[in-house]
Amino acid sequence: MTDEPARPDGTASGPVVVRSRDELFAARSALGDGDVAVVMTMGALHEGHATLIQTARAAHANVIVTIFLNPLQFGPKEDLSLYPRTFDGDLRICSDAGVDLVFAPTPDVIYPDGDPAVRVSAGPLGDVLEGQSRPGHFDGMLTVVAKLMHLTRCDAAYFGQKDAQQLLLIRRMCRDLDFPVRVVAVPTVREPDGLAMSSRNTYLTESDRETAACLSAALRAGAAAAADGPSAVRRAARAVLVREPLALVDYLVLVHPDTLVDVPEWYRGEALLAVAGRVGTTRLIDNLPLLLGPGGSALEVLTVA
Ligand code: PAJ
Repeated sequence: MTDEPARPDGTASGPVVVRSRDELFAARSALGDGDVAVVMTMGALHEGHATLIQTARAAHANVIVTIFLNPLQFGPKEDLSLYPRTFDGDLRICSDAGVDLVFAPTPDVIYPDGDPAVRVSAGPLGDVLEGQSRPGHFDGMLTVVAKLMHLTRCDAAYFGQKDAQQLLLIRRMCRDLDFPVRVVAVPTVREPDGLAMSSRNTYLTESDRETAACLSAALRAGAAAAADGPSAVRRAARAVLVREPLALVDYLVLVHPDTLVDVPEWYRGEALLAVAGRVGTTRLIDNLPLLLGPGGSALEVLTVA
């Protein structure tokens, strides 16, 4: 008998799967030489997550995936209990992508004393856009990301451009609080019709799914006007959304990528065109980084200083 952590299918291939802190620390120490990248997820993995993992795999000696549905970042009226759980499929995706270690704790492992009294505060950048309709969300998200960075002792962490405000806040946390972690952005992975992949897309009915395509279509229309400046971008994107009354738009903004403040008409350079709205019962978000000005266009990810 050994205490070796379980592999998903009992074979020698595939990631080591651990659930407790002690198992994680042992498996983390047993990783090979070289740097460690982490891809943090809430499970219900799809091609977007797989792309993050593959990008990390190509650049690092060791890849850890965390699967943790973090209660701290869900509001009381949000979809925590409904959130899709597909653990076996998640492990298959991790195995196919060559992940070394999967950390899949339960809430009591991450929060042994219950909800933490001390949390990371997102500050004013966490109060706008998504933060306005999800109070406390970004504090809960940053708190778990900080904990998972400490627990995995990662050198690099990969996040999707899909969640642009989350990505910005994680970058700021690492910079402002001196976390020794390199944050890497990965472009948004989309369905063939442009819809950004999301675990929440499984909530959409077939007709919702058709309606939802207007969000990415609006972003593309905005990008096509990037050479003409901010008001042209906003006008072009809005024109697409008003043609789809079944999409209840929460916000459509063109903001500076560092401050999330609306860019003025004279502004040229990198900006973020972001949209959020409800389709059926599902809240969806999407964004496109743009370069405004002569030769303006969409960018895959923002250039970070
Ligand atoms: P989750 O929604 O599972 O997303 C995990 C990671 O996958 C995030 O970095 C997210 O931006 C990225 N991602 C999701 N859809 C994507 C897509 N279509 N293209 C590219 N990347 C995509 O985001 C979270 O979990 C949580 O807030 C977490 C950071 C894990 C903290 O709990």
